[in-house]
Amino acid sequence: MNQSEAIEEVKRLTKELNHHNHLYYVESNPEISDYDFDMLLKRLQELEEQFPELADDNSPTKRVGGDITKKFESVVHKYPMLSLSNSYSKDEIEEWFVRIKKLVDGDLEYVCELKYDGVAIGIQYVNGQLKQAVTRGDGTQGENVTNNVKTIRTIPLSLTGDYPEDFEIRGEIFFPLDNFEKLNEQRRESGEQEFANPRNTASGTLKMQDSKVVAERGLDCFLYGVYGVTGTANGHFETVQKVADWGFKIPQQSKRYIEKTDSLEGVMNFINFWNEERSKLPFEIDGIVIKVNQYHQQEELGFTAKSPRWAIAYKFKAERVETVLDTVTYQVGRTGAITPVANLQPVQLGGTTVKRASLHNADQIEKLDLHLSDQVFVEKGGEIIPKIVGVNTGARLTTAQQVIFIEHCPECSTELIRREGEAQHYCPNETGCPPQMKGKIEHFIGRKALDIDGLGAETVDALFEVGLIRNIADLYELTFDQVVELERMADKSANNLISGIEASKQKPFEKVLFGLGIRFVGETVAKKLAKSFKSIDALKAASFDDLVAVDEIGDKIAMSIQAYFQEEESQLLVDRLKSHGLIIEVEEKESASDKFAGLSFVVSGVFTAFSRNELKELIETNGGKNVGSISSKTSYVVAGDKMGPSKLKKATDLGVKILSEDEFIALLNE
Ligand code: IVH
Repeated sequence: MNQSEAIEEVKRLTKELNHHNHLYYVESNPEISDYDFDMLLKRLQELEEQFPELADDNSPTKRVGGDITKKFESVVHKYPMLSLSNSYSKDEIEEWFVRIKKLVDGDLEYVCELKYDGVAIGIQYVNGQLKQAVTRGDGTQGENVTNNVKTIRTIPLSLTGDYPEDFEIRGEIFFPLDNFEKLNEQRRESGEQEFANPRNTASGTLKMQDSKVVAERGLDCFLYGVYGVTGTANGHFETVQKVADWGFKIPQQSKRYIEKTDSLEGVMNFINFWNEERSKLPFEIDGIVIKVNQYHQQEELGFTAKSPRWAIAYKFKAERVETVLDTVTYQVGRTGAITPVANLQPVQLGGTTVKRASLHNADQIEKLDLHLSDQVFVEKGGEIIPKIVGVNTGARLTTAQQVIFIEHCPECSTELIRREGEAQHYCPNETGCPPQMKGKIEHFIGRKALDIDGLGAETVDALFEVGLIRNIADLYELTFDQVVELERMADKSANNLISGIEASKQKPFEKVLFGLGIRFVGETVAKKLAKSFKSIDALKAASFDDLVAVDEIGDKIAMSIQAYFQEEESQLLVDRLKSHGLIIEVEEKESASDKFAGLSFVVSGVFTAFSRNELKELIETNGGKNVGSISSKTSYVVAGDKMGPSKLKKATDLGVKILSEDEFIALLNE
């Protein structure tokens, strides 16, 4: 391909990728499969590697990250980023209504919006291209976080429609709750401390140097204001609707995320609705924002030193109750991490009975200056587990005993350690402390690791109690006769268990590696390590430098891997797994042939002998290329059942050869 052809191809791919990104993330209405999308992206990445001069600053490849920001430069805001004046009661909202009505002529319209609990961002677009994204900072100047913001899929990189030449759009970047949970699950699995709340994590994520990590975390953004635009519409509500045409994701009216009203009653109705419903939202909000709609009336009202007079925030009261702290107990996790738990006298909070609250770590206990039988304040924020936010010290008995963090493991009495720079205490007795031993086995059999059928936490417990298993290798020495002896274990279940364990020997190396439970080696890291080192022996032999040379493997992970393999116990364990026939190296897929070299295929429809992905894989392993859409350059369209008529027509119009499934198989076997 020469350069001018490449320019055209890059243009075409960029347009197509931006279009499909918008359909998927903004409209939630995708037209092509994830696989096809990835193929288009891969094609663009390859072209950009081949012709680096064609890699645009706003290329769709920026979505996956990769750009590193060493230092976030300071940028002065063109329009200061003010804050909102807060109110905490309906009376205050009513007072605001009366106040502004006196200050402006004519009838007023109000826009009610959610007050998203995240980080404010100002994004500048010039000639329809995302130019710069800046955090709020102190309101006058913020930090340039453009590289990271480009990874947020709902923020367009290039605009569509009749957008203004140079303007700024402001909004809130937040962590969707499902992605936040996913991140914490990964951290739990790899033995890292979980993040406490979505807002702070969104803020921390936005300031990470490696935009690839930001891309993986899945932040999102809602937009709430446009600056430097005239003539688009007369009011805020209408402008928000308009920016959807430019490619932005706007709050949906159908979900009541935004509403226009002309009365106090309408505003109260919106507040009451979300006061009840907010816990069902897939993201966190901390209130409602009410804005005067018409721009000319906004101007009339103007600003105070810190905030606009034309808007006010109604903040929800965090639900808080008072109860008595009975005891503090300590849980020991799979990695030995000690989590203190407050056991409370049962109390109603947010529709559920709360009996326990997490205390996180020793620092937290010290900060609260907790004493047994204290009256404590408990809140349920966005986090699922309630937390103690304070102590009613006035109600403390003089005889109350201060809570002192334990020094020895509650399960095995080993002296606890606290590594430098870490908040968590650990029990270092990894191989002799029962909850750690059981936790490691549970991790190994878990869905994301070996996923052993017929074996769950309860059975692990039972097998452990009778002394049949102490570690993961012991699983492979279990016999039917031993297992069937367990209480409540029928012949059929025992059989299932033994065959489930047997079947796990076929699980790929990356799953085994993840299952070992090496600290900081989560699912993604295990995949990366398996791909780079190919076998457990090579990984074991890898030097620190070899390890950190792998993309995304840092000092912390490298040290943890080395420490693991230096332990005699781990070496023994790995040897035993090896002798039981587990897969401890990557099984290379054979590259079948280069029969399809230079040919491009579009696969569409449903097939009988293969799944669509298997068919695509066959094309690739035989040297061919899968492309997302039909063009005159497509060599073949492989048409399965239910292929769309428009695709069929396009192929016929362009004279592209269409293969049935059988014809494809014949071509492959030629
Ligand atoms: S309008 C002049 N609308 O709340 C300020 N702000 O204290 C205009 N926020 O930092 C802001 N949701 O980041 C507005 N729907 C919404 C909002 C919102 C969240 C944040 C914003 C700002 C803070 C105001």
